[in-house]
Amino acid sequence: MSIKTLLGIEHPIIQAPMAGVQGSELAIAVSQAGGLGSLPCAMLTPDMIRAELTAITTATSKPFNVNFFCHTPPEVSAEREATWRNALQPYFAEYDINADDIPAGAGRAPFSHAIADAIEAFRPPIVSFHFGLPSPDLLARIKGWGAKVLSTATTVEEAKWLEAHGADAIIAQGLEAGGHRGLFLSDDLTTQVGTFSLLPQIVQAVNIPVIAAGGIADAKGVAAALSLGAIAAQIGTAYLLCPETKTSLVHRAALKSASAQHTALTNLFSGRPARSIVNRVIREIGPISNNTPEFPLATTAITALRSKAEANGSGDFSPLWCGQNATGCKEISAADLTAELVAEVLKR
Ligand SMILES: Cc1cc2nc3c(=O)[nH]c(=O)nc-3n(C[C@H](O)[C@H](O)[C@H](O)COP(=O)(O)O)c2cc1C
Repeated sequence: MSIKTLLGIEHPIIQAPMAGVQGSELAIAVSQAGGLGSLPCAMLTPDMIRAELTAITTATSKPFNVNFFCHTPPEVSAEREATWRNALQPYFAEYDINADDIPAGAGRAPFSHAIADAIEAFRPPIVSFHFGLPSPDLLARIKGWGAKVLSTATTVEEAKWLEAHGADAIIAQGLEAGGHRGLFLSDDLTTQVGTFSLLPQIVQAVNIPVIAAGGIADAKGVAAALSLGAIAAQIGTAYLLCPETKTSLVHRAALKSASAQHTALTNLFSGRPARSIVNRVIREIGPISNNTPEFPLATTAITALRSKAEANGSGDFSPLWCGQNATGCKEISAADLTAELVAEVLKR
């Protein structure tokens, strides 16, 4: 199946949805350039999603993707929250923060009927998920308006599960990928596989199209993914310096520095493993802590430190999401970057 048949786009490039660092502007630019622009909705309320979808559908008639998380929200544990705040206490003291005053931070809500109500009128042609799939009734609703459903697999087992439960295509997310790992059948990080080992194994294991994600930073990487059987490449990190993103100044500075060569999987910023450039808090606490509240509750306490540190120009407590190959990050328009990424493919 061609990418044109599956998603209705010209080029085999999907701009990865990146919650917290981009909105409709980047999605519009990539869709207009012939790739698939994505709107990350995990941190948006239904009203915000409606406003962003209005912006997209006003600006382009090309296909676009909306992306959601589908985790199960955890029970709040006061004890676990207290243990975590205790671990952060030296930093709260340094920044003169009273832990009792920390307000609830930006959460991440899973896909729900309330969100489906908000997006249904826009009939987004493509809907992608991280952390599995929503319940069968929600999936049926989305498919009811003709949307194609994509979801992330980090193992062969997850890919087979997604195929069996109704995904139209699999995003094979290798260990190199920036941001949250989409793992959902196991939380054992030793199950996680690099992109070019994972991709051909998933291609062999399923009968639906496979999209490669993780560490793909340039035209040669895109061509390599296609030659290993991918129908398209989903690219996140390379877009982070484009002017259409909302990437913060500290994040931009880190991506442009040599420190982008050192990333780690860390659960300190949300409670789930995600790949970030190693910064002070990761170095000092260690990338994985057993003390964090469950995803996404860990976000709240560290956000208080992040805000104070960023106000001083420091990324010491920021989630500096980044894949293992940041060499593709360029301060050029998303349209130009998309054109560069497909250059090798177009030559063939
Ligand atoms: C800053 C950032 C934020 C991300 N947020 C999301 C998200 O909201 N939803 C999602 O499905 N994937 C998210 N991801 C993961 C991407 O979908 C994709 O797997 C990854 O960017 C591919 O690897 P690369 O960054 O090396 O290109 C994020 C990645 C980054 C870098």
